[in-house]
Amino acid sequence: MRRKLVAGNWKMHGLKADLGEVRAIAAAVPGSVDAALCLPFTLIASAVEAAGALQIGAQDVHEAEKGAHTGCVSAAMLVDAGAGLTIVGHSERRADQHETDNQVKAKGEAAHKAGLRVILCVGETLEERDAGRAEQVVTAQVAASLPEAASAEWLALAYEPVWAIGTGRTPTEADVAAMHGAIRAKLRELVGGEAERLRILYGGSVNGANAASLLGCADVDGALVGGASLTAEKFVPIIEAAAKL
Ligand code: PGA
Repeated sequence: MRRKLVAGNWKMHGLKADLGEVRAIAAAVPGSVDAALCLPFTLIASAVEAAGALQIGAQDVHEAEKGAHTGCVSAAMLVDAGAGLTIVGHSERRADQHETDNQVKAKGEAAHKAGLRVILCVGETLEERDAGRAEQVVTAQVAASLPEAASAEWLALAYEPVWAIGTGRTPTEADVAAMHGAIRAKLRELVGGEAERLRILYGGSVNGANAASLLGCADVDGALVGGASLTAEKFVPIIEAAAKL
């Protein structure tokens, strides 16, 4: 039985004035699910103090331990700030920063080496889905960006169709179940029995109204939530929906 994980991704939103939302979300986390918020780097240290059972993470990490990489943040720095996890390979970074599968894999490995848990994102574009290539694209991303020695102790995956992110559109329940099943089958090839323990989150326009049906799909072990994670009013109902499953 895989315990549900609901993770929020604040993207480039959030100032110190918003720490009250972190506190309100933290106060509502039930004991039966894992809940996390991946915040801008600038909020991590202060959020950790307010977080309680809510895990605080980052949205990216550099693959190198240290060095001449102006503006970047290492895994050790995230640990030092109190983060417990990080997202790697979000489609916005794959697109905007041209991150490759190889680089995403290296980021996941660097994060794990420093003691962070990792949420690895994969997902197809609308063109790829319309061309009938969604499963092929996503399972290839899994194979190429999965860190070495992947284990459910520290790794979760997130399937996020690019066309569902921030658009209010979601795949059908059948499409979600089919893709999560395909990802799990690829994981069996790659890591054998550990595939049954690895959590696969769904992400893309998850909200309080659709969370129960999306989280109830076969092989869906949680959610990665963008816009609806910014306030306790919107995010807590998603965490509660996961807790009821
Ligand atoms: P969204 O974003 O929930 O706003 O669609 C999800 C994500 O990008 O992780």
